[in-house]
Amino acid sequence: MRIAVVGSGHVGLVAGSCFADLGHDVIVVDNDEQKLAALKAGQVPIHEKFLPELLNRHRGHRLQFSDNLHEAVRSSAAIFIAVGTPTTNRGEADLSFVESVAREISGAINDYKVVIEKSTVPVYTSDWVRKIILRNGTDPDSFDVASNPEFLREGTAVTDFLFPDRIVIGCDNDRCAEVLREIYAPLTGGSYYERGDAIPRPDRANIPPPMIVTSTKSAELIKHASNAFLALKISFINAVASICESVGANVNQVCHGVGTDSRIGPRFLNPGIGYGGSCFPKDVLAFRAVARECGYDFRLLDEVMRINEDQRQRFLRKVRSALWTLRGKRLGVLGLAFKGGTDDIRESPAIFLVQALLQEGCTITAYDPAAVERTREVMISNLKFANSAYEAASGADALLILTEWEEFANLDLDRLNRELKYPIVIDGRNLYDPEVMAANGFTYYSVGRAASHPDGVPAGSILKNGVKKA
Ligand code: UDX
Repeated sequence: MRIAVVGSGHVGLVAGSCFADLGHDVIVVDNDEQKLAALKAGQVPIHEKFLPELLNRHRGHRLQFSDNLHEAVRSSAAIFIAVGTPTTNRGEADLSFVESVAREISGAINDYKVVIEKSTVPVYTSDWVRKIILRNGTDPDSFDVASNPEFLREGTAVTDFLFPDRIVIGCDNDRCAEVLREIYAPLTGGSYYERGDAIPRPDRANIPPPMIVTSTKSAELIKHASNAFLALKISFINAVASICESVGANVNQVCHGVGTDSRIGPRFLNPGIGYGGSCFPKDVLAFRAVARECGYDFRLLDEVMRINEDQRQRFLRKVRSALWTLRGKRLGVLGLAFKGGTDDIRESPAIFLVQALLQEGCTITAYDPAAVERTREVMISNLKFANSAYEAASGADALLILTEWEEFANLDLDRLNRELKYPIVIDGRNLYDPEVMAANGFTYYSVGRAASHPDGVPAGSILKNGVKKA
């Protein structure tokens, strides 16, 4: 099928490349000349596993880049809208890019087209897209509007696209559903997975994935409700972690006990310094605003956001209680990205914490395997960068772990201990076992677990002489 994807951001680029890998002819449209030139020249603008391979495989053949939306619409049967939906100052999704694309599409419709929203948008957006296209004089029988939400995580977006848990299509009639069924047939029919050149299958793959066909409004709600629920799961376990800290329980043990209930499941139950990224913060806020518009006061979501913010403040308090005064302290920081496996620092709790600690007068040397360049672009402070975790730790009063990169969970602890001025690790992602850290000579603080100390006496406990252990 001939497909146009409007927007070459994270979602558009991944979706376009994956559609090409499924055998479709794809034109990715963007109005950013520089971006297009870079893509045509073979550059890969985002850090995404398997994306370079797919771009190499299809660029110039089944995958074209263009700034001509009109032409792209005319030559395509399906047009996916994957433009940005930033947050307005009222917390709503700003749909002006979606609207202007809809307007442009309307002038180009020459025969039957399906216009599909892929951007995360509030319920009723499909109705609006339809209205805008009609308002510009388009024949109502010459197009349909559908919703096909994506559930791509940054870093694993290609795999998430090609090996999804499910494919949700929101269509209000069969004609339009048929077009989407055809697009995804290589996945739902399983033929893609039999190919020798298919992207490698991840551990937990649901093959072939089911296709869930709903109304457009339901599909729009599925996306917001899914992201809000996952954010809620994270805030819930972070709240439980705080209680664990108060009573001396171990949140990992609690997670294991809770997560093995198949009704709950173990995923997205990792406590830490809170969720960040380009989706959860924006989508929870937007879903809250959508609910308000519809007359429902979704206060549960306020609490999800409050816990998330509080989690960062709790971590700052932990750093203070481990190090006492902060002015002039030298800290090594591991991780700047909002999560492991990406160079994205949007709404990164790590960046928030680094900024707060710099403001308190700390000197920081940070290391991240991918996000240093992006951090350099936004940080106009005196933050220093290291080329490795050990270099970041070198001579530091303490080491902070702020992003769950796999590399940070496998450090040479002897070497780390030698590099640090004081062997203190404050881990916002629970990457280590407190006992192992203590056995390797560290005073170790984490989230929802008691701090551990090299001589086995937990920090904060009262010693025989009545003195509180540092
Ligand atoms: C998310 C959704 O997972 C995806 O379906 C949607 O399409 C886009 O938003 P993404 O933002 O890439 O994907 O990251 P995700 O892996 O979901 O993590 C989001 C944040 O939650 C990160 O900051 C991560 O560190 C944090 N997180 C995640 C936790 O703190 N604990 C967990 O158990 C899981």
